[in-house]
Amino acid sequence: KKHIKEIEQFSADTAEAVEAFRIKYLGKKGLLNDFFAEFKNVPNEQKKEFGLAINQLKKVAADKVNDLKGAMESNVADTGVYGDLTRPGEPIELGARHPISIVKNQIIEIFSRIGFNVSEGPEIEDDWHNFTALNLPEYHPARDMQDTFFVQTNPDILLRTHTSSVQVRYMESNTPPIRTISPGRVYRNEAISARSHCFFHQVEGLYIDKNVSFADLKQTLQFFTTELFGKSKIRLRPSYFPFTEPSAEVDVYWGLETEADYRMTKGTGWLEIMGCGMVDPNVLTNCDIDPEEYSGFAFGMGIDRIALLLHQISDIRLLSENDVRFLEQFKSAL
Ligand code: PHE
Repeated sequence: KKHIKEIEQFSADTAEAVEAFRIKYLGKKGLLNDFFAEFKNVPNEQKKEFGLAINQLKKVAADKVNDLKGAMESNVADTGVYGDLTRPGEPIELGARHPISIVKNQIIEIFSRIGFNVSEGPEIEDDWHNFTALNLPEYHPARDMQDTFFVQTNPDILLRTHTSSVQVRYMESNTPPIRTISPGRVYRNEAISARSHCFFHQVEGLYIDKNVSFADLKQTLQFFTTELFGKSKIRLRPSYFPFTEPSAEVDVYWGLETEADYRMTKGTGWLEIMGCGMVDPNVLTNCDIDPEEYSGFAFGMGIDRIALLLHQISDIRLLSENDVRFLEQFKSAL
């Protein structure tokens, strides 16, 4: 009876104290084992009462240990790592936008300010939209300018080599005035190196209306390069594309301030960033637009190389390797 009272009054708030209590009563050399050992010395007529008493004592002691342990565990739950409801939450880790997306969005935003919308088309294209409608008929030698991945031949289905194919689709289903830019992934069968890949990304632009001139083209590009690069000096070098006439290559004056500027521009300070020209009348005719009534210009640039330039990335392959150590560096760029 004395022991039962003592047990009932016992309380402990450390695991050590509970364990010491358990050993005292229920351990191998504990009080209860002593009582059980004594059982055989108890006179027969008291055996029943004594037995009941020690069994009750054992039960009370075991219950007490269980209660104390349980209380201690729920205590941990209330105040510990997972249980404290006032504890600030773990932040969800945010990803970063891909540098291609960052630059693509910048380009779209700049052109949207002067009235260009965004058009998209399929990456798997037919011959008409990628070549023939663009003044590149079968056996035209200029088809070799773009090494093509064919999905099937005769009729030819291929991975588009430029997003000019989207411009054809847009002209086929819209009437002038047309002001649209076409961002997207394109494919060319080129050797993979730090500078070029077998797939990359383009933004091509198209403007068709009455009386569109080469001066409009130049001024549009001037606006764009100033907005994107913060560098306003550009030059147009005569070039050739089957779908534009005249055609030009656009260089931005990058300057020769750093060693990198020398390397990137081969010591000239000028950096080639896109191709452009006045849409060839044959292309307009192919797309059911009357070249007597309308004229227009087109331009096209590679997003990947511009991203390398703007973010000082040394190798184009980094853009498609999905290495998180690379990607997470763009968290602060939106
Ligand atoms: N389609 C050309 C290319 O992929 C770029 C371009 C577009 C050139 C429009 C002139 C006009 O290289």
